Amino acid sequence: MAASEDLESLPGVGPATADKLVDAGFDSYQGLAVASPGELSNTADIGENTAADIVNAARDAADVGGFETGATVLERREQIGKLTWTVEEVDDLLGGGVETQSITEVYGEFGAGKSQVTHQLAVNVQLPEEYGGLEGSAIFVDSEDTFRPERIAQMVRGLSEDAIAAAMDAREIEGGPGSEEAMEALIEAMLDNIHVAKAFNSNHQILLAQKAQEIAGEHEGSEWPVRLVCVDSLTAHFRAEYVGRGELASRQQKLNKHLHDIARIGSLYNTAIVVTNQVASNPDSYFGDPTQPIGGNILGHKSTFRLYLRKSKGTKRIVRMVDAPNLPDGEAVMRVEEEGLMAE
Ligand SMILES: Nc1ncnc2c1ncn2[C@@H]1O[C@H](COP(=O)(O)OP(=O)(O)OP(=O)(O)O)[C@@H](O)[C@H]1O
Ligand SMILES: [Mg+2]
Repeated sequence: MAASEDLESLPGVGPATADKLVDAGFDSYQGLAVASPGELSNTADIGENTAADIVNAARDAADVGGFETGATVLERREQIGKLTWTVEEVDDLLGGGVETQSITEVYGEFGAGKSQVTHQLAVNVQLPEEYGGLEGSAIFVDSEDTFRPERIAQMVRGLSEDAIAAAMDAREIEGGPGSEEAMEALIEAMLDNIHVAKAFNSNHQILLAQKAQEIAGEHEGSEWPVRLVCVDSLTAHFRAEYVGRGELASRQQKLNKHLHDIARIGSLYNTAIVVTNQVASNPDSYFGDPTQPIGGNILGHKSTFRLYLRKSKGTKRIVRMVDAPNLPDGEAVMRVEEEGLMAE
């Protein structure tokens, strides 16, 4: 992360502008280089022309924004990892699992299981690749106070015996799946690899996303690189704070910037991004589609994979792929049990 002094070496940026930029979260050349002049002008309160100059200068300084060869694109795409949901049918729906370098939006009504999914993925991401993991750690941005370490513990215990044994081996925990002591050590180690932060309001949530990028940077190349960022819920604070019709545009603008920040972590650090979003459940509604997120499809095309979760009988849940590049739409069935997500 660059301090405001570093930004002052950009033409047209004096100390006051540099401070404004840093306050608005633009604290690196790279961040500035990928910002749009309009976004910069609005969030940092500087003129549109100056903003355009700053973005261009930052592009030169950061050496980004140019073309790259198809080979480079292919090389990066070859790094894409696939993270298991534990449920084979859902993994198939996703083309192998939740992808890194993309945003996956999980939406559905209350109790549909969105938070269960984020917990399960925070466990699974730590597994060896042969068990569908990415051998990495997780960041959990919690805006609804839903993160429960006890739930993580249940899900670790609910993993297959082979996966537990392999996860223990990877950490040199001795005793095997049969040993309660080893099991507790594994749970503790897995909890240590989940970086949780509560977001108290939307501005705080935006700051946490920037902090998440720092954490991902610090862990790059370490034994447990960050391979998953969950934001549960992405939208709750924004909805609560921007209620009036007149505020829709500013809500959208803030949310866009936030998504932009999160998406950047995904591509910079080969991380899977999973965000949740609630929908209204009102089957009686004549107008309005109850399967649409409250406030419309506010995430639009920014979420690359969109999964709609729907309650069914008892513990059963239907997962529908709504739209995804290069994948057919379809449905899968899963159950939410004490042990975690399970196949039907
Ligand atoms: N320990 C557990 N054992 C079994 N099932 C559980 C357990 N904890 C939660 N569940 C199941 O998960 C459901 C809650 O799911 P979850 O909290 O993920 O919903 P959500 O989609 O995040 O809802 P919201 O929009 O309110 O955040 C419960 O209704 C229950 O069916
Ligand atoms: Mg939830």
